[in-house]
Amino acid sequence: MSAQPESLEFLPAAALLSEREFTTVRALIAEYAGIKLSTQKRNMVYNRLLRRLRARGVGSFAEYLEVVQREGSDEREAFVNALTTNLTAFFREPHHFELLISHAQQHAARRGAPLRCWSNACSTGEEVWSIAMALRESGGAGEVLGTDIDTDVLNTAQSGVYRSERIAGIPVERLRKHFLRGTGANDGLVSVRPELRAMARFGQLNLQSPVWPAMERFDVIFCRNVVIYFDREFQKKLLTRMADLLVPGGLLMVGHSESFPAAHPGFRSCGRTAYQRI
Ligand SMILES: C[S@@+](CC[C@H](N)C(=O)[O-])C[C@H]1O[C@@H](n2cnc3c(N)ncnc32)[C@H](O)[C@@H]1O
Repeated sequence: MSAQPESLEFLPAAALLSEREFTTVRALIAEYAGIKLSTQKRNMVYNRLLRRLRARGVGSFAEYLEVVQREGSDEREAFVNALTTNLTAFFREPHHFELLISHAQQHAARRGAPLRCWSNACSTGEEVWSIAMALRESGGAGEVLGTDIDTDVLNTAQSGVYRSERIAGIPVERLRKHFLRGTGANDGLVSVRPELRAMARFGQLNLQSPVWPAMERFDVIFCRNVVIYFDREFQKKLLTRMADLLVPGGLLMVGHSESFPAAHPGFRSCGRTAYQRI
C-alpha cells in the first residue's frame, strides 16, 4: 500500500517516494548515521525529505537521492539533519540530574578538579544546559561538552536561546539563577546566563564514525535516547568506546527505556537508568 499523504494531488506527480527509493533512504541513513529507520517511517521520510526537494529545487526523489549520493555532496548533511529525531527537554528524566548533583558534590570534596561531562546526542542543547545548571547548583566546578550529528540542532544548542514555552515547568528559583528573559525584540525568548555558557562547549560528532577526535576522559557521560536508533551490534561497540572514555567510578546515564549497559562487565547499575564504571 502507498504511504503518500492525502494531500498528494497538490504535489508534482514526480514527487512520489517509491518503495525502492524508500529502501535507498533507509540504507543511506544507516550508512551515514547508523540510524535504523523502520518500514513504518515512510510517511515521515516523505514529509521531511520533500522539504529538501523543494529547498534544492529538485523534482523527484530519484534525482534528490542521486544528489545526496554524489561524491562530496553538500546535501548529505542536510539529508541527515532532516531524518534525525530531536525530541528533548530541560531536566528530562530529572533523577539523572539529582544523581549528577550528588556525584559532583562528592567529586568536589575529594579532588576539587572540574567534573567533566559529555552529552553525546545533545540535540538542541537542553540536556547540556541542564547538566551545566546541575553542576552550578552542586557548588563544585564543572564543564560539559555537547555533541550531536545534526548541525542544525547544534546551532540552537550553542545559541543557548529558547522560546519561553521550553522552560515552563522549571521552578522559578532555578529560572532566576540560570536564565535571562528577553525584552523588546527578544520578548518571548530566554537565554542561558553567561555563567552557564562559560561551562559548555559544542561540536559535531557522528557516534557511528569509526574514528572520533582525541578526547579527554570524562567523569559523566549522558548517552540518552539515541541508541534506540542503532542496531545491537553498534550499541555494544559504542558502549565499549564510552567505557574506555569514562574514569573509574564515572557515571553513564542512558535513556528511560534503555538498559544496554546492564550486561557489560565494566558497569554496575547505580540507580534508575544510571550505571557506574567499575
Ligand atoms: C531524541 S534526541 C535525544 C536528545 C537528548 N539526549 C535527550 O535524551 O533528550 C536524539 C539525538 O540523537 C542524535 N543522533 C542520531 N544519530 C546520531 C549519531 N549517529 N551520532 C550522534 N548523534 C546522533 C540526533 O540528531 C538527535 O539530536
